[in-house]
Amino acid sequence: MSQGNIESVLRETRTFAPPSPPPGAPWHISSIEEYRAKWKRSIEDPEGFWGEAAKGLHWFTPWSRVLEWNLPDAKWFVGGTTNICFNAVDRQVEAGLGGQAAIIWEGEPSGPAGPEVRRLTYADLQRETARLGSALKGLGVKKGEVVTIYMGMVPELAIAMLACARIGAVHSVIFGGFSSQAIVDRVLDAHSRVIITCDGAWRRGKVVPLKENVDAACSALKGQGHEVSAVVTLKRCGNAVTWTPGRDHDYAALTRGASETCPCAPMDSEDMLFLLYTSGSTGKPKGIVHTTGGYMVHMWLTSKHVFNLHPGAGQVFWCTADCGWVTGHSYIVYGILPNRVPSVMYEGAPNFPAEDRFWEIIARHKVTQFYTAPTAIRAFMKWGDQHPARHDLSSLQVLGSVGEPINPEAWMWYRRHIGRERCPIVDTWWQTETGGHMITPLPGATPTKPGSCTLPYFGVDAAIVDETGRELPHTTGGLLVIRKPWPSMLRGIHGDRQRYLDTYWSRVKGMYLAGDGAHRDKDGYFWIMGRIDDVINVSGHRLGTMEVESALVSHPAVAEAAVVGMPHEIKGTGIAAFVTLRPAHNPHDRAAAELLKKTLGEHVSREIGAIARPDMIRFTDVLPKTRSGKIMRRLLRAIASGEEKITQDTTTLEDFSILAKLREQDEA
Ligand code: PRX
Repeated sequence: MSQGNIESVLRETRTFAPPSPPPGAPWHISSIEEYRAKWKRSIEDPEGFWGEAAKGLHWFTPWSRVLEWNLPDAKWFVGGTTNICFNAVDRQVEAGLGGQAAIIWEGEPSGPAGPEVRRLTYADLQRETARLGSALKGLGVKKGEVVTIYMGMVPELAIAMLACARIGAVHSVIFGGFSSQAIVDRVLDAHSRVIITCDGAWRRGKVVPLKENVDAACSALKGQGHEVSAVVTLKRCGNAVTWTPGRDHDYAALTRGASETCPCAPMDSEDMLFLLYTSGSTGKPKGIVHTTGGYMVHMWLTSKHVFNLHPGAGQVFWCTADCGWVTGHSYIVYGILPNRVPSVMYEGAPNFPAEDRFWEIIARHKVTQFYTAPTAIRAFMKWGDQHPARHDLSSLQVLGSVGEPINPEAWMWYRRHIGRERCPIVDTWWQTETGGHMITPLPGATPTKPGSCTLPYFGVDAAIVDETGRELPHTTGGLLVIRKPWPSMLRGIHGDRQRYLDTYWSRVKGMYLAGDGAHRDKDGYFWIMGRIDDVINVSGHRLGTMEVESALVSHPAVAEAAVVGMPHEIKGTGIAAFVTLRPAHNPHDRAAAELLKKTLGEHVSREIGAIARPDMIRFTDVLPKTRSGKIMRRLLRAIASGEEKITQDTTTLEDFSILAKLREQDEA
């Protein structure tokens, strides 16, 4: 998509009024008028609004100022000290509620007796985070140091995050689906010396060899002069692992002997809480920096309002994301636990052992809030209505969606077959950089429209502007920006001030550029239209096309590669790769070509992870380029989407015959 005025083709006119509240859980915000009044106040007096909100949480010492804003640097709750692990865990124990469930975990393997289920109380979490915190200190981990976490979805993953927060270490969680190369890049960038991992992770009945990947990463890091001093491994799958004496530690043995006395460290509100790497359009993934106080308040309040959480009302919250993504950080751990509603963690795949696993989980644990991604919803639709129909989903109160625009058809299916026409859907727009929800319905207040993330959350000044920062009239597409600071905003890109300025603050002066194109309809509702940069959103996860291209080019057969997004039935966007080969590697027949495509797909999986494997690879002698040598991605996008006629401007194309050639190969 180019900048300027973006043509929107989606016309959706259905509107759904907020339903009446579930028994025992009144809506926190119960009318659109109440929302509008509160929103107006939050924009006019952000310090008053957020200052009042923050008083709902525990601070060791109060702040002296709510906000200090020197564009583009925000400081929230200046001078205040707090600890997010204390607010998530210890606070509940101190209130005498240590026996209540905090995390309800379900393992993937499931036999005739059902799956393994673990219920961890706040007291359990306090003990376990204290033990691991003590153990990490014993390994020499200091306040402010980055601990890398690369685990499957086991409770110890949340415990590891919270233990870091407890002692003031910074965590960098790497999604367990990433390859060892991803670990190398992130560990190096963060100068991390300690890694917490598992022997393996269960995924669709198979074991993903996490420890093996860490070992490979450690060797590669050593080759680059970086020594990992400690690897702590939790035994989960029982797969064979090699052990490096002196460096490797067994999680169970290490924590068993560790002290349970490990008080939560008072952290400055602006101390770093975590680093989370996300893809950009150029270069290596960026380490997004999040700090303590503002993030904590924003997560707590959005969780409460957007999902309508009420402590002690028998609610059970389930977000299906992996903790390796921001959604898992914010809405499995940090937003939910301080609200004292149990958070469900599920270890495995949605279709293991069968396609109704999620509905079984909802029925088994009486889940009240269910938060998932459009890509998952499209898969459920494909698997068939009979799967949810077989299960009791009557406990559900609020449904959520996140990660990419949800197509109206999927929205309607979600409403009908999961929400049974009773549950409001909150389509939440936000990003790794924003930390928490930014544009979202409030379930008891906002009339919803399928496919729209509706209206901005409190304190969020979202707008659609052109390149000069001028607000565009409703119904005209443009750039989505945020014009005022918000508590959980990123504080930078780790180690790269310039990239922070360039990516978010340069294109439109004085405003945060989200990188999404969007428009507002006549009612002021926001409709996200997709990314404006070379980032593709595959299954709700961002991938830089550049990363996939570099992975392809690192294969000896590849001379040049261009990667673009293409429509994909389940993933929303799939990956199309146009590849030119080195002459010696040109396949002599179709079978050889297919084999090479498979090899390249596996190569990308190894380099980045399975989510980056191209859905389509096409060999071509040349790539369409401008006279200055820039690959014309929009042409490739049109070809990959199978557009009948190229209607785009091709005047800058250097060699017109290329288009015809690419099309010929299309038909071959
Ligand atoms: O393009 C938007 C899309 O996902 C991007 C953020 O990706 P990431 O940082 O990986 O975080 C995903 C989870 C918050 C956004 O720039 N996106 C996310 N949520 C929505 C969305 N697009 C439309 N509607 C949404 N609800």
